[in-house]
Amino acid sequence: MLALTGRTRPRARLTGVASYLPERVLTNAELETMVDTTDKWIRERTGISERHIAADDQATSDLALGAAQALLRSTRTSAADLDLLIIATTTPDHIFPPTATLVADQLGATSAAALDINAVCSGFVYGLAHATGMVESGLARKVMVIGAETLSRIVDWNDRSTCVLFADGAGAVLIEADDEGDPGSGVIGFELGADGSGKDLLCIPAGGSRRPARSEGVEPADLCIQMAGREVFRFATGIMVESATRLLQEAGLTTDDVDLLVPHQANSRIIQHAAEKLEIPPEKVVTNIDHVGNTSSASIPVALAEAVEQGNVAPGDLLLMVGFGAGLTWGAGLVRWEPRT
Ligand code: UT7
Repeated sequence: MLALTGRTRPRARLTGVASYLPERVLTNAELETMVDTTDKWIRERTGISERHIAADDQATSDLALGAAQALLRSTRTSAADLDLLIIATTTPDHIFPPTATLVADQLGATSAAALDINAVCSGFVYGLAHATGMVESGLARKVMVIGAETLSRIVDWNDRSTCVLFADGAGAVLIEADDEGDPGSGVIGFELGADGSGKDLLCIPAGGSRRPARSEGVEPADLCIQMAGREVFRFATGIMVESATRLLQEAGLTTDDVDLLVPHQANSRIIQHAAEKLEIPPEKVVTNIDHVGNTSSASIPVALAEAVEQGNVAPGDLLLMVGFGAGLTWGAGLVRWEPRT
């Protein structure tokens, strides 16, 4: 970790992205055999056709490591050069040690500080904002931010209203210091927020310090995701538009300046609604929920990696990322895509 030196502050740049999805694909047809649901219902109400599920011997750190290694390869970065590794996750390998320390060790990131953050589905945008702050304050020059989840481990496979939604995966980005960058380049800014009064709308009721897993009366379902779907849907459609609008206004930009909206992949109807309200046409919206499902903090970097792989992002493009989720939390980020050449 570098110390704050007082020299001209660098700008943070997003220079690379990569993802890792576990091999196993769970289709809607298979879910039809597990709970009272249909492929038609899932596709029409959520936009999901299939999703990836971690193998029994894979934990969140394994998925994160896959994304991290792919990112180091594609950006030709040495793990030893990383100053900081942040993992946004709500499904850490353990309560402690942090999953980030496990990944840093496996990666050979011997000079990196490492920590996990949990802002649930907003976690990746929160992590990006923290990385930006560390780089622009001069405290770090190379930061890897990973969003990684094995939600299959905390899903109630008997609850049809949630088990059809959530999935596993990991996405990673590299944030680097740029001493020359112009204003308007690099990471432009963030709008982050939280409203804990909505804590019960989406939560895991037990397993923490308030109701430990071993407490009397704790049922297996109490250790799994429980969601008031309609209420969360209403919150999501509103906050995506509000957060993105506030951020664009603060930055002196409009949606016309946005080249690509990279939203949290929770439900294709939520994405469509937000894009319409923001007046962003469908060709500028990244949607991969049909084959990836909702991977919480991994969903935005996984979607961005796919857009880059498919050649849908050009250097200099302005990306608007918007996440929302349990907490309740939300976060929007405006970032230029400036890959290493
Ligand atoms: O990433 C974290 C943030 N999470 C979200 O943003 C999720 C937000 N919520 C949603 O995406 C939607 O609310 C859901 C996809 C979860 C549910 O869709 P909905 O259109 O809001 O359905 P609903 O909850 O209003 O339920 C409608 C009906 C109910 O049956 P009745 O009471 O009308 O007879 C449900 O029991 O659909 C039923 N239902 C299902 N039917 C078949 C719920 N889940 C299923 C299912 N298959 N999997």
